[in-house]
Amino acid sequence: MIANWKSNKNRAEVEEWMHTFEKQLEILVALDKLKYDTVICPPMPSLSQVSDRLLNKALHSHTFLGVQDISPFPAGSYTGAVSGHNLIGFGVKYAVVGHSERRKYFKESSLEVSKKVESCIEERITPIVCVDRNEIDAQADFIEKGKYSKLVVAYEPVDHIGTGIAQDVSEVLPVMRELKAVFRGARIIYGGSVNPDNIDEFIAEEEIEGFLVGHASLDVDEFGELLKA
Ligand code: PGA
Repeated sequence: MIANWKSNKNRAEVEEWMHTFEKQLEILVALDKLKYDTVICPPMPSLSQVSDRLLNKALHSHTFLGVQDISPFPAGSYTGAVSGHNLIGFGVKYAVVGHSERRKYFKESSLEVSKKVESCIEERITPIVCVDRNEIDAQADFIEKGKYSKLVVAYEPVDHIGTGIAQDVSEVLPVMRELKAVFRGARIIYGGSVNPDNIDEFIAEEEIEGFLVGHASLDVDEFGELLKA
């Protein structure tokens, strides 16, 4: 269950979220009700803050740190970019790459996304590669087949992101199968307006191996509801 906070939350808000989240997680773990590994992808300025909390808590075996983007370049003279090398020491295990908001607002191409996948793999970070249906083949072509098993691939139908209305499960499943066939060995997840009201329908389907959650991850209680589902 991946929380993608996007460009939300400042230091104080992160502190509050983490505080409540830890309590929720403790209860779920104590009751043996935690069914998911959780990944938190904070905005970059909060990386260290979240990292410190995760490294200091016994809960870290259930919760992992992710970033929302990574530089396609190695360490070097690339002002403003955060390289895989910069992330060493924070315990970053995942990186979202090729999110539709990056493709749209920052004009990222599938080629560039494939370079980000390389940056991740070099630092043993699992890339969470986001694609809409029409991007599947192009994105797959740019990534070496031998590396597919190192990926999480998130099916993210753009029309359903941030709308509050998830795509119908019956429409999601064929895409899950397509992704499974194309990206052999990858873990396939869904993202797009997942919330406590609709998660049950998705959980019932084995083919959906996880969730990338934007809006519903901002409110810690709502996110807690997803973990309890
Ligand atoms: P959403 O975002 O849950 O707010 O639709 C999902 C995403 O952007 O990955």
